[in-house]
Amino acid sequence: MNSSDISSKVHRLEDYAPPVWTTPEIALRFDLDIERTLVRAEYKVHFNEIGFVPELPSLFLNGVSLHLISVRVNGLLCEPNQYRITSLGLELFKPPAKDFTLLIENSISPKSNTALEGLYHSGKMLCTQNEPEGFRKIIYCIDRPDNLSIFTVTLCGDQSSYPILLSNGNLISTRVLENGKHEAVWFDPFPKPSYLFALVAGNLAHVSDRFVTSSGRAIELRIFVDEKNIEKTEFAMTSLKEAMRWDEETFGLEYDLDLFMIVAVDDFNMGAMENKGLNLFNSKLVLADKKSATDETFESILGVVAHEYFHNWTGNRVTLRNWFNLTLKEGLTVFRDQWFTEDKTDASVKRIADVLFLKEHQFAEDAGPISHPILPKFYVEMNNFYTVTVYEKGAEVIRMLSLLIGRETFKKGLSHYLKEYDGQGVTYEEFISAMEFVSKKNLDLFRNWYHRKGTPNFKINEIWNDTTGDYSLEFIDMDAEALSLSFPMSVALFTEEGKIKHEEILEVKGKSFQRNWKNFSSKPIISLQRSFSAPIKIHIDRNIREYSFLAKYESEGVSRFFALQEVIFETLRKQFQNDSPGATLDLFSILDEIFREKEKIAKDFLSYLLNVPSLTQIADVLKCYDYEIIFSLREKLISLIAMRYQDQFQALYDENSETIPIQSRLEIGKRRLKNLSLSYLLHIGNIRDEMSEKALIQQRNAKHMSEELSSLRFLCEGEGSNRERSVADFYEKWKADPLVLDYWFSAQVSYGKNARERAESLSKLPEFRFENPNRVRALLGAFARNPRSFHHLDGSGYLFMGAALEKLNYINPQIAANLGKLFQSIRLQPEKPKEIAKLEIERLLKIKDLSNDLEEVLSKILKGL
Ligand code: TRP
Ligand code: ZN
Repeated sequence: MNSSDISSKVHRLEDYAPPVWTTPEIALRFDLDIERTLVRAEYKVHFNEIGFVPELPSLFLNGVSLHLISVRVNGLLCEPNQYRITSLGLELFKPPAKDFTLLIENSISPKSNTALEGLYHSGKMLCTQNEPEGFRKIIYCIDRPDNLSIFTVTLCGDQSSYPILLSNGNLISTRVLENGKHEAVWFDPFPKPSYLFALVAGNLAHVSDRFVTSSGRAIELRIFVDEKNIEKTEFAMTSLKEAMRWDEETFGLEYDLDLFMIVAVDDFNMGAMENKGLNLFNSKLVLADKKSATDETFESILGVVAHEYFHNWTGNRVTLRNWFNLTLKEGLTVFRDQWFTEDKTDASVKRIADVLFLKEHQFAEDAGPISHPILPKFYVEMNNFYTVTVYEKGAEVIRMLSLLIGRETFKKGLSHYLKEYDGQGVTYEEFISAMEFVSKKNLDLFRNWYHRKGTPNFKINEIWNDTTGDYSLEFIDMDAEALSLSFPMSVALFTEEGKIKHEEILEVKGKSFQRNWKNFSSKPIISLQRSFSAPIKIHIDRNIREYSFLAKYESEGVSRFFALQEVIFETLRKQFQNDSPGATLDLFSILDEIFREKEKIAKDFLSYLLNVPSLTQIADVLKCYDYEIIFSLREKLISLIAMRYQDQFQALYDENSETIPIQSRLEIGKRRLKNLSLSYLLHIGNIRDEMSEKALIQQRNAKHMSEELSSLRFLCEGEGSNRERSVADFYEKWKADPLVLDYWFSAQVSYGKNARERAESLSKLPEFRFENPNRVRALLGAFARNPRSFHHLDGSGYLFMGAALEKLNYINPQIAANLGKLFQSIRLQPEKPKEIAKLEIERLLKIKDLSNDLEEVLSKILKGL
């Protein structure tokens, strides 16, 4: 077998078999040192009887890039011929018995670990990241989620470099040793898979608080950060307490240990990690104060703190049988955090934001070369499957279930599932059966959501009989070959006067489905997909008048918003086709109405209603991927709206200019409206200069980062004379705060068709480091999401990103692969630039020591061309 052949590295769901050997107990000891850490693991090994076995099979332990020191079986040192080491692990040939102890010692180097997986350093701190397969970079182990162990962890380190020593569970003892070292022993009573193990060592400050559970237990809460950031932890702490209370009130779920810790880490591959009792966070999702964080960052913190906390039950207490089932914990936990945020903020605004994200990112993934079902059937590198499909579409699938069986039954089902499978690794099937059990509903068609990839397209026909007053809806699955589904379709039938005559949640089933209603005196106007009840695309013949009607009368905010979006798309389509002067008539009549009654609309919601869709959304709807055309269409529409409503925007800007820098719905809404108005006013030729001065003043006088950053963004976007001043001021003020500097990097490359030159010079600043994922995402991620520059027709965007991917491949393969995914949209581009991208991908696929991560992503994209 050729190990460089990618097909030999594929893991398949159909090959899953339960573990032959398990390690029910692990005692770990770490002698921490940034250059060379010694790790010792003492395992209780157990053979899982599966029928009669004539001879015990050998024991395979995963292990990658480890320096082995010794192996002992039942206390006896093994000779080198008793085992074999490969690039994937250690095979122990003749295990002595069904139960025995295994003691392994090895060393690792946190200092050289730039992949940020396993044990690594971030600044002077040492920390771990083990999901999905990082533990094998720490010690030889049975590194799979269905091998659950009870961990005892001894951490030993220099007292001055590592005064704080943390691991999962409860602190059992500490002691001071000679030569300036000290030691801490942690014990976690809950069995867990290796991916949930964590340790942290460093010189950290912390804030603490207390939470009393509904049954009266006092939990100690701690957030650990760099001393200088101690003032930026308040919002995360409040979020944590709200999440704890909400999970008790909504699902009856209490926290189970006496201590819950969060640690902020500067160099971190993703958002955050739910390690038992010791959640590790990307600092950008913990640290915030009004001066330095935007409203969007505050809201992400609320959601992610809750998300990781909620994993304590959905993910940790009940975990995964294998990685194919990742969505079992992630889809479910995203649904839980979305629900929580809906309850804590404004439900329709939150839902609109989530649906926009789903459509922009997940629908795009599902339409392209890396499309996969929420339950992938094979993977090369599991890290590549932490996708918007597994997470966000997975959450939609759980949401659909909650709509089909009702939220109260759903809550019962979740309790049943958690009781039944506590302490086990299970699959989506156990979850669905639990829901079937409590709802008495057959979910066979629904199960197919786990296996069908791509966004389902449904044709919807309306059938109206004027003489009988019968009205029907017919749903047809446009992919006759694909697996049949069932899903909830929330509808309302309106009278012509704008009153709801009837509303219900249909359960659409199978390839074609019909529902009839009787006794209408005139044809009802139907609102479909209310609250976006299913992640599908619907195709229905209807005119702009009906969308306008819904944009006016629909009381459900999400549907109202999307009806207005349809009117905007229709307007753009008309302008795109023949630039007809009457194109904006319908849109303006709705906007007139909205401005007339604006006092009755919540400010935050209003700011969404008035927002013109992004370039990528418009391109997708018009099926035109020439972003210069799309850009001018969008600019033109924005200017037309700005000019017609100049007075109203001016008034909105003035009314909302004094905001209090706190995170309340009202103040957030004010800031959003004010910034939105400013961006419209900047599109009016004869006042542009004046407004751009105002933007600069807003930036200087800002009391909240949302005000300051909006100015920077608009001035960067406008490319006018105040751009450089804005950029320079922002830098001077914030150069010492890396999280704010990330905003600064992004703003400069997010707009315009010449961002590549700027991105290139920014990448040469000493502040740019390929080793820091946040900085890489801020610059390169933002650049690649600027379609005008990334998809520049001369191909320069592709070559720039290609060169960056090559560097990242050696430093951090996971980040390289994630950025590599942004090449998925090149298939829609014209031949010439596409050819340049293709050659660049082919070049990358041939570089020396290409990681599995990047290879898997790029080869799929290449195949899809
Ligand atoms: N389980 C984490 C979450 O969704 C995500 C995660 C997976 C992760 N791998 C990671 C986070 C690596 C940080 C680094 O909450
Ligand atoms: Zn998660």
